[in-house]
Amino acid sequence: MSEPRQILVTSALPYANGSIHLGHMLEYIQTDMWVRFQKMRGNQCIYVCADDAHGSAIMLRAEKEGITPEQLIANVQAEHSADFADFLVDFDNFHSTHSEENRELSSLIYTRLREAGHIATRSVTQYFDPEKGMFLADRFIKGTCPKCAAEDQYGDNCEKCGATYAPTELKDPKSAISGATPVLRDSQHFFFKLPDFQAMLQQWTRSGTLQDAVANKLAEWLDAGLQEWDISRDAPYFGFEIPGEPGKYFYVWLDAPIGYMASFKNLCARRPELDFDAFWSQGSKAELYHFIGKDIVNFHALFWPAMLEGAGLRKPTAVNVHGYLTVNGAKMSKSRGTFIKARTYLDHLQPEYLRYYYAAKLGRGVDDLDLNLEDFVQKVNSDLVGKVVNIASRCAGFIHKGNAGVMVAGDAAPELTQAFLAAAPSIAEAYEGRDFGRAMREIMALADRANAWIADKAPWSLAKQEGKQDEVQAICAQGVNLFRQLVIFLKPVLPVLAADAEAFLNVPPLAWGDHATRLENHTLNPFKALMSRIEPAKVEAMVAASKEDLLAAEAKVTVGNGELAKDPLAAEIEFDTFAAVDLRVALIVKAEAVAGADKLLQLTLDIGDERRNVFSGIKSAYPDPSKLEGRLTMMVANLKPRKMRFGVSEGMVMAAGPGGEEIYLLSPDSGAKPGQRIK
Ligand code: 2FM
Ligand code: ZN
Repeated sequence: MSEPRQILVTSALPYANGSIHLGHMLEYIQTDMWVRFQKMRGNQCIYVCADDAHGSAIMLRAEKEGITPEQLIANVQAEHSADFADFLVDFDNFHSTHSEENRELSSLIYTRLREAGHIATRSVTQYFDPEKGMFLADRFIKGTCPKCAAEDQYGDNCEKCGATYAPTELKDPKSAISGATPVLRDSQHFFFKLPDFQAMLQQWTRSGTLQDAVANKLAEWLDAGLQEWDISRDAPYFGFEIPGEPGKYFYVWLDAPIGYMASFKNLCARRPELDFDAFWSQGSKAELYHFIGKDIVNFHALFWPAMLEGAGLRKPTAVNVHGYLTVNGAKMSKSRGTFIKARTYLDHLQPEYLRYYYAAKLGRGVDDLDLNLEDFVQKVNSDLVGKVVNIASRCAGFIHKGNAGVMVAGDAAPELTQAFLAAAPSIAEAYEGRDFGRAMREIMALADRANAWIADKAPWSLAKQEGKQDEVQAICAQGVNLFRQLVIFLKPVLPVLAADAEAFLNVPPLAWGDHATRLENHTLNPFKALMSRIEPAKVEAMVAASKEDLLAAEAKVTVGNGELAKDPLAAEIEFDTFAAVDLRVALIVKAEAVAGADKLLQLTLDIGDERRNVFSGIKSAYPDPSKLEGRLTMMVANLKPRKMRFGVSEGMVMAAGPGGEEIYLLSPDSGAKPGQRIK
């Protein structure tokens, strides 16, 4: 036996200001399957991740919600952790970049880079929001495109004509945060001298660390010559202050990848067998793999290895890049209900369905992966329920009825046994190379052979004949042994199915090497259904709920926290615009849950001369809607009616708060009458 490998694995750190969706999940599931495979092989494989908690977006979002950034990132971390756990993504540690370990390591790496002469400083002129008192990143500046004169374009590119430009070229620039006209201001910035690492990167990117397509893309940048990288931001900023530079902060992308190390360090404190330096020092024998999406390749395959090299640390063994997720052949879309949050999926469907579908479609490359919802239902039902689980359910009953649950000894199908054994190295190689699709195809081909053999032997017919009991038992024991091998091969993808199968098989947790053994004279536990078919109605309900998520989010944008619109530039409006809104006192006559909708309440509102039907995404705060009946609230009475799956919504009620349980319906003082206009 070769020595167990020491392997450290990461997935990209999700930003701490948004929910996890099925696009994110592709990466975490891919990584988790690879890690589980390594663990089953007996390797020491550690999987760490963290929330990416810094940056101005998080600072501004917290401000908008009226909470501190620390509160925001704690809330989001709890949500993310639950989503990952429920998708069976089994991190050894899920930490935060806003941690002491990360502060220390960021400071250490920066100091080493500075001492080695890899940090430059120079003055940078940038737009500054005089009202808000902060420098503005390009996406926080809006104005008129200098090329095509389209209004309301971002500071670095025009969505209308595709032009790219410097924010200073925008006409009539405005701060997207306050609406103020920004002014140009100078400030000292710190730069990481990436060109110092040109030769190293040229060699490293071509040394088997990257897929060819990724290395080719990077070669374009490398050939064009690398630029120094601006790693500082001015206060106010949510992040780590640069040591010895008051008012200057590390740019979020400087400390984000260091967050991988920090999460591992945090784990080492709890797991004495792990030696931090053994994993991270130069010349380390441990392997280090980062799984990422193709949008963040430059950070992981240029900046990050250069930072590590400059700080005297080891570089990644490989950076594994995947493509984007599309749903039904198109970019995920909120209005089509295909922008599906992890939690919305979990409210309707089992995590292993998606894990299997992703596995079946994932290859080694950077191609996009399409989640076709019809194909998803069909493939999962046919492969997992129709092929794999079917083998056990066909055989178990006969063993229980005919032989008190004991599997007889003897190999009833030596050829099949041999074929299953012979397939194992190739399946393992496919897992190792992240060619999950090939692994699934090979496993399903084995399942097909097992099913065909059982169908041919037809134990159900033999069981009705005199004197065939031994044959029935031999066939069914063989069937269960083949099922057991399939479960071993599928365990990295389907850990719950595997655990349930282990309970039925009455065996301790299966490792990869167990595929070479068989159960003989072994007593099974009673068989329970291991997986049920996906009902297409559940998928439809998930899509409908995703549309509802959008409605709830829209409601929040319209009424929550004084946000008047998604676009902060519109925070200031003309009086006429305001006067055009017909705001009325409304009496809630009836309030009920909506069948088939998780977040909506249906309200019947009396506004004096008429009654209105309004759907509102406030159910999370009012689980007992009848309590709302008889109270007054405020409504927008001239909102364009909106046709929904459940009926037409004729207006909108007004509420405040960040969402969830914290939604507060507005009320007028007592004495107000339904229908009265708000002036
Ligand atoms: O793109 C993103 O979502 C980043 N939060 C990924 C960070 S990965 C690592 F570098 F921290
Ligand atoms: Zn333009």
